[in-house]
Amino acid sequence: MNYLITGGAGFIGHHLANRLVAQGHHVRVLDDLSAGDPSLLNEQVLFTRGDVRDQPKLWTLLHNIDCVYHLAAKVSLPQSVLYPRDYNDVNVGGTVCLMEAMRAVGVKRVVLASSGTIYGDQKRQPVDEDVVPELLTPYAVSKFASEHYMFTLGIHYGIETVALRIFNAYGPGQALPPAYPPVVPQVMNQVLNGGTVVVFGSGRQTRDYVYIDDVVDALIEAGHREGIDRQVINVGSGTETSVLELVEAIGEVTGRTPHVLRNEEQSGGVRRLVADLEKAQRLLNYEPQVSLKEGLARTLALDVRFSRMRPSLRADVPSTP
Ligand SMILES: NC(=O)c1ccc[n+]([C@@H]2O[C@H](COP(=O)([O-])OP(=O)(O)OC[C@H]3O[C@@H](n4cnc5c(N)ncnc54)[C@H](O)[C@@H]3O)[C@@H](O)[C@H]2O)c1
Repeated sequence: MNYLITGGAGFIGHHLANRLVAQGHHVRVLDDLSAGDPSLLNEQVLFTRGDVRDQPKLWTLLHNIDCVYHLAAKVSLPQSVLYPRDYNDVNVGGTVCLMEAMRAVGVKRVVLASSGTIYGDQKRQPVDEDVVPELLTPYAVSKFASEHYMFTLGIHYGIETVALRIFNAYGPGQALPPAYPPVVPQVMNQVLNGGTVVVFGSGRQTRDYVYIDDVVDALIEAGHREGIDRQVINVGSGTETSVLELVEAIGEVTGRTPHVLRNEEQSGGVRRLVADLEKAQRLLNYEPQVSLKEGLARTLALDVRFSRMRPSLRADVPSTP
């Protein structure tokens, strides 16, 4: 099959692209490199630098494509509060542009990387796809709007559409930007460097951390399964992990004792979030394979930034006189 991945040089995108290529598929990637790194892509992936809102570029790249994975987006929740217009332009505008271009070229299927953050702070956990979303950030609004634009335009244009609501994905190759870093690589970096991990409030706030290989399994199934048109499907681990449990697990895996600093609770935070996976199991035959400890151990071993810092490896390196 021929695939186009928008945002395919990013964390999830490069893992997906490399797996599809390993399975013998043809993969094109469109990414503006505002966050991605094309050096992570297998050399068989056809990489094009560009913006997902560039229609002429999309017309060229969509030629002969069987399925698009739409991952290009701005991805930080706190940043989206500061720059909502950018999030609306890129995330919502990008989705609308892609759908228009798909209509023009006649591409018939798209899978959107939506987000579990759409659910907000729900009393009842785990959350299934039928609960009424609580949109707490412009990022969440942009993902929910993208889902609806995609479904609505899909009906008008005869395009099959699927939205995967991915929870907290982590794994090797996840970027660690200085501003708004994702939690797993940030804590791993701090613990390995002997730095301080700041935990807000009780540390009992929970999230659903899902290893990248499981996310890629779900994306690949969603790309070719029949009978899932206009479905939203959760993709998580189904396991609820508190911040303190995450820090402890990273301590165990790295063999370091984390230095934790408690800070005041941030207002408006989500207290609990864990995915109900019944629909993913039913429609995608999805069954997460990698536990948190295993996923963290693989991240440590496979991500060169972290494997370089492992204590056992550092001890072997003679100190410079
Ligand atoms: N990582 C997670 O935990 C998670 C959870 C839920 C949903 N998602 C969604 O999955 C997708 C991929 O996330 P990720 O974690 O890999 O983030 P990422 O930032 O690594 O990947 C996003 C990619 O999109 C690219 N991009 C941004 N704006 C673009 C534009 N205008 N045109 C073309 N490319 C553009 C970036 O350069 C980057 O490579 C995103 O849509 C994100 O919202 C991620």
